[in-house]
Amino acid sequence: MNDINIPVSEPDRQFYFIEQAKKYIDFLKEKKGRALTYFVDTFGCQMNARDSEKIRGILEKIGYIPANSEDADFVLYNTCTVRENANNKVYGRLGALSSIKKKNPDMKIAICGCMMQEEGPLNKIKQSYSFVDIIFGTHNIFMLSELIVRSFEEERMVIELWENTDKIVENLPVKRKYPFKSGVNIMFGCNNFCSYCIVPYVRGRERSRRSEDIIAEIKDLVNDGVVEVMLLGQNVNSYGKTLDTPISFANLLKQIDAIEGLKRIRFMTSHPKDLSDELIDVMANSDKICSHLHLPLQSGSSRLLKEMNRHYDKEGYLELVSKIKKAMPDISLTTDIIVGYPTETQKDFEETMDVVKKVGFDNAFTFIYSKRSGTKAALSDSFVPEDIIKERFDRLLNEIKRISSEKAIKLQGLTKDVLAEQVNAKDNTLLTGRLSNNSVVHFKADKSLIGKIVPVKLIDSKGFYYIGELA
Ligand code: 5AD
Ligand code: SF4
Repeated sequence: MNDINIPVSEPDRQFYFIEQAKKYIDFLKEKKGRALTYFVDTFGCQMNARDSEKIRGILEKIGYIPANSEDADFVLYNTCTVRENANNKVYGRLGALSSIKKKNPDMKIAICGCMMQEEGPLNKIKQSYSFVDIIFGTHNIFMLSELIVRSFEEERMVIELWENTDKIVENLPVKRKYPFKSGVNIMFGCNNFCSYCIVPYVRGRERSRRSEDIIAEIKDLVNDGVVEVMLLGQNVNSYGKTLDTPISFANLLKQIDAIEGLKRIRFMTSHPKDLSDELIDVMANSDKICSHLHLPLQSGSSRLLKEMNRHYDKEGYLELVSKIKKAMPDISLTTDIIVGYPTETQKDFEETMDVVKKVGFDNAFTFIYSKRSGTKAALSDSFVPEDIIKERFDRLLNEIKRISSEKAIKLQGLTKDVLAEQVNAKDNTLLTGRLSNNSVVHFKADKSLIGKIVPVKLIDSKGFYYIGELA
């Protein structure tokens, strides 16, 4: 580790450690007389899913090959902490790993992601799961090979956690889940501090990637067979504000739109407070930007929205939606809603129901409020009783189901372009794909069409998906 040949600058330093890690893996391969395997499991959002592709890229470069289960030589959990139940799942899974490790003492266990950026879970893992080998966070995934080398050299729990960073390391290996579509980070972190949300504490301050780096990455992806990109950021609408030469998200989209060979562009997540007219205009005039906008509402009550530090009110949200619909009448709108935020009254909840009815969301992700320590909302001791939350949650869910299936039926009988994504898990004569509006379609077709955009007639709407046939 004190080698004077270790490069100081990134990513050269990591390529050096990839070579060092390879030596340890080669040694173990020889000792065991077989290949070494890895298993990565991802909890949480698309951001974590993309981070796991980077993790897989590094592991495969080092010489590990994929395994189908935790019975592997390297097991990593990429964790989420946005709600309490995400944390509990990880503890359960970790518990089961200790017996696998007893049978394979050379096994390495690593945990990373949002949950590790919090003191409580970190201490719990240090105390109760001492068989874990490597712990790192959301800011230093790029150093995985360096941490693996340290773990082989130090033979004790290696913990490398950064509270924040302004570092963005480009050009490390990535192993994509799908050959034809990919997430692309355009920014990291969040500056919004919505009162209930742990994300700004575990993912740090907002920083954008340079547009040149993003464009170059997408061009490389397209050359490698990618037809659809999903641009990722906690609040893509504030992209570019922190760059030396600031540029807007709409401007970035225009540049991405011009990339030859790219067929579809998606992005998430949009904060309503920062959604510009310029963006609506760029979306409306692009054939590649998908006809879908995920616009988290969180609550329909202006009082609660203020408490939540969302910087818009009920009327503002509705006005924004009508502006979007005017420019793009067929756009599919989806949202996130929290039920049972501290002090939520029946009247507040009815306001949420009212917005849901007025907007007519094509889908909505509904969450029961979960107290995250360290956030402002966690200081409140005015909690809504569980039975009332349950009642509101069920009512909301039923309404969303009713509205979304009503909307889905409108496309029945039409022929739409579908990106064929995979063989259907239950019936291997069917392929599963997505419309531009993000709806799922199952249709009979040969798997040679996977990765292609094909016309499909939507025969039957089943609420959250369609049954179709190749047109
Ligand atoms: N409790 C419940 N839901 C939450 N979300 C974020 N934090 C919490 C919390 N503490 C939801 C928000 C966000 C989505 C990703 O998760 O709706 O948009
Ligand atoms: Fe959390 Fe709000 Fe940032 Fe979204 S915008 S990650 S809800 S703080």
